[in-house]
Amino acid sequence: MTEIKAFIEKNKETYLSELFELLRIPSVSADSRHKDDVRKAAEYVLQKLREAGVDRAELMETPGHPIVFAEKVVDPSKPTVLVYGHYDVQPPDPLALWNSPPFEPTVRDGKIYARGSCDDKGQFYMHIKALEIMMKRKEVPCNIKFMIEGEEEVGSAHLGEFVKVNKAKLKADVILISDTALISLDQPSITVGLRGLSYMEVQVTGPNRDLHSGVYGGAVANPANVLCQMIASLHDESGRVNIPGFYDDVVELTAEERAALNRAPFNLDEYKKELGIAEVRGEKGYTTLERTGTRPTLDVNGIWGGYTGEGAKTVLPSTASAKISMRLVPNQHPDKITALFTRHFQSLAPKSVTVKVTAHHGGEAAVTPTDSKAFRAAARAFEEVWGKTPIPTRDGGSIPIVALFKKELGLDTVLMGFGLDSDALHSPNEHYGIRNFLIGIETIVAFHRNFAQ
Ligand code: BES
Ligand code: MN
Ligand code: MN
Repeated sequence: MTEIKAFIEKNKETYLSELFELLRIPSVSADSRHKDDVRKAAEYVLQKLREAGVDRAELMETPGHPIVFAEKVVDPSKPTVLVYGHYDVQPPDPLALWNSPPFEPTVRDGKIYARGSCDDKGQFYMHIKALEIMMKRKEVPCNIKFMIEGEEEVGSAHLGEFVKVNKAKLKADVILISDTALISLDQPSITVGLRGLSYMEVQVTGPNRDLHSGVYGGAVANPANVLCQMIASLHDESGRVNIPGFYDDVVELTAEERAALNRAPFNLDEYKKELGIAEVRGEKGYTTLERTGTRPTLDVNGIWGGYTGEGAKTVLPSTASAKISMRLVPNQHPDKITALFTRHFQSLAPKSVTVKVTAHHGGEAAVTPTDSKAFRAAARAFEEVWGKTPIPTRDGGSIPIVALFKKELGLDTVLMGFGLDSDALHSPNEHYGIRNFLIGIETIVAFHRNFAQ
């Protein structure tokens, strides 16, 4: 293994400059103005896969952004690993809060600052370099397929269909994904749980136009006030979600599972300090790790209405809106939760307003096995490279494809992520440690060797 480490060390400048080139492409999937950039990123990934030495690589069109597919088949009788990742990124705004431009990767303090550095360009790129290293050393121990998509950050609307019609192409023994976080560089971990998601938008409409807030205020329902009241009622005093039926399908963890989860190192004081908050807040009776890893939640992601420009304008808005996400846990179904939310939210509306509820994307939660060949290979890879046994953890984020892969292809996933929760994913100043990037490549090489054995 030390030979691999030395090889990576020798080539790290090249690896980084290639990654930087990818990070310079603003592949923001949510923003149609960046449509060409998204394709440019896909083409760059395709080219890098070809240079790494895959047998074939192609851009596969979808009604949205293309999917990059590639494969290296060394021996059909050997096991196959399917690497999944996404080359699209979140919008960079608010731009003013970045200390360096989001699409001009800048190294500070051993970290690469750029949108997508950790989520997920820097992470899936490790897999391309791992393959390249194995190719150069003529040591590719198993077959490797790549499926790198461009719509993950907008809900992967076309992926379900893609997986269904390309089952033969995607045939593999396990899915490998680096798009999650480690506990820390001192304590490796493997993610074994992800939350699901149900994402809604609501609009409350009152009078047929914006009104003078002095002339009409106090006599006509203000949609912004009403929306705030409705949203406030969605949690009870213990921080539980106040939607009838919301918890019906939630499976409570056993006492042992909870104890195991809470054995992971976690420092509440550091957590609060890093976020600049005086106190944490959430569902009563659960620790922070349990709240993010194992409990369903409801959060406003955006709220608007009326005058939000400079200075003051006395106006009573005609409409007010909010985007609301619910994170789900195993056994909760996004379609059912969407229906429960819609019915309940409609029922909250006073007669003075009308309410429109729209569902955006969703996805199921996932729990991955810890007793599989692939999980053991991942654990051994960490032991070899890090000298420490990884701890299984449950992350709060969502990667809906994990449940989809299980359902459509019957495949389990290994979530071998190398980011950190503090890497500012989706926030200004997203970053990824160079050390995480380099040790990730080494650990991935070790995974393939252990998995093939
Ligand atoms: N990589 C993240 C998910 C993630 C982050 C998992 C941190 C574990 C730890 C992914 O790109 C993401 O942001 N997913 C979205 C869901 C998607 C349906 C838009 C999310 O979690 O909000
Ligand atoms: Mn991601
Ligand atoms: Mn993301």
